[in-house]
Amino acid sequence: MPVLQTKGLAIDFRGFRALAGVDLRVEAGVIHAIIGPNGAGKTTLFNLLSGLLRPTEGHILFENREITGWPAHAIVHLGLARSFQITSIFPHLSLLDNIRLARQSGTPLGYYFWLPETVLHRFDQDARTILESVGLAEAAGKPAQELSYGQKRALEIALTLALQPRMLLLDEPTAGLGVEDISRVVALIRQVARTRTVVLVEHNMGVVAALSDRITVLQRDAPSGRPAGVVW
Ligand SMILES: Nc1ncnc2c1ncn2[C@@H]1O[C@H](COP(=O)(O)OP(=O)(O)OP(=O)(O)O)[C@@H](O)[C@H]1O
Ligand SMILES: [Mg+2]
Repeated sequence: MPVLQTKGLAIDFRGFRALAGVDLRVEAGVIHAIIGPNGAGKTTLFNLLSGLLRPTEGHILFENREITGWPAHAIVHLGLARSFQITSIFPHLSLLDNIRLARQSGTPLGYYFWLPETVLHRFDQDARTILESVGLAEAAGKPAQELSYGQKRALEIALTLALQPRMLLLDEPTAGLGVEDISRVVALIRQVARTRTVVLVEHNMGVVAALSDRITVLQRDAPSGRPAGVVW
């Protein structure tokens, strides 16, 4: 029973067909990797799944519900969240405040800085638990800009967890990391995947082999009419 499914997904950028005929099936509870050459359309696929882009053709179903064309915030509310990028971390705010804001953005309170402290503190315990789960509890009070690159990648995952997703989309979570940080992030992904489905775009084949239950290969320039996604 797939938790996420795409049927014949395609998108054109001003006449340039970046994705065509993508039939993806992701089973509940697995770690599913998507691999393929640069420019194959992996990030574009994530942008479609998370509602940042609308497909030109095809359908997206999440937990049997058609979500094609839904706006990003509605998809997040359903429980499908993609990772934040380091660029969306607030550098001068503490880790705790970063997580509290992300946690709050997943509620009807929205993404407001000017809410009274008492309202923000409602999410304190949640935020601490999330920081603990990614190994950043001790840095909770530090400004995010003081973290190492590897710790910032862990914070990205923590920010996504704050949205309480049942499915997590991670785009190149180990990109730019040294060997030690890679094994930390691999362990972290394995841990968060215990209670969630994870879809992962990754170029590091060691990471893919270590983590994945399923692998889909996205081909570039798939001849039209032929599925671009090949599932192993
Ligand atoms: N907003 C856009 N406008 C025009 N073309 C785009 C846009 N976004 C992506 N593309 C094009 O779509 C194709 C797929 O890009 P995408 O970034 O999804 O590839 P990718 O598989 O994630 O590559 P990489 O492994 O390098 O991250 C590329 O040819 C890219 O130039
Ligand atoms: Mg990409």
